[in-house]
Amino acid sequence: MTVIDEILDLYRRKGDATYGEGVSQTEHALQSALLAETENASAELVSAALLHDIGHLLHDLPEDIASRGLDAQHESIASAWLSRHFGPAVTEPVRLHVEAKRYLCRAEPGYWERLSDASKLSLTVQGGPLTAETTAAFAKGPFAQAALRLRRWDDEAKVVGLSTPGLDHFRPYIESALKG
Ligand SMILES: [Fe+2]
Repeated sequence: MTVIDEILDLYRRKGDATYGEGVSQTEHALQSALLAETENASAELVSAALLHDIGHLLHDLPEDIASRGLDAQHESIASAWLSRHFGPAVTEPVRLHVEAKRYLCRAEPGYWERLSDASKLSLTVQGGPLTAETTAAFAKGPFAQAALRLRRWDDEAKVVGLSTPGLDHFRPYIESALKG
């Protein structure tokens, strides 16, 4: 089995799990990737959008872990796992997509209010909004802008019943994003 097949198989086997927002993990991934594709993002960033929550499929922790006051650190699990096959243009936006939410909560008035209830709940176990100091440091990072784009797609990719292309549609993006 190639790594691409392994990834797509993971979504087919475990992607029906709820994302806690009325959509499944696979629906959330496909909606995120479609938003990235619509904005003509690079193959690496479309792949990051598709795979940003793969950490939730890789751990066996319960779905309601945030409501138990625990953080699964799914972004770290995902970026570490993906780094075997992809470079930083994929793994860094994935690793930073939670920090991007914490950044926006601090830096953008009204952002927190627009978050879903599940995202607000997970924010508390993820450390809350960044401090003034860490906000400035985040913005200077080389992948900050990519992580912020991914975060906005992530926030929007929760539309119940939205029709999207299937996983195979995004296979070419992942294939071209693989590191040589
Ligand atoms: Fe997400």
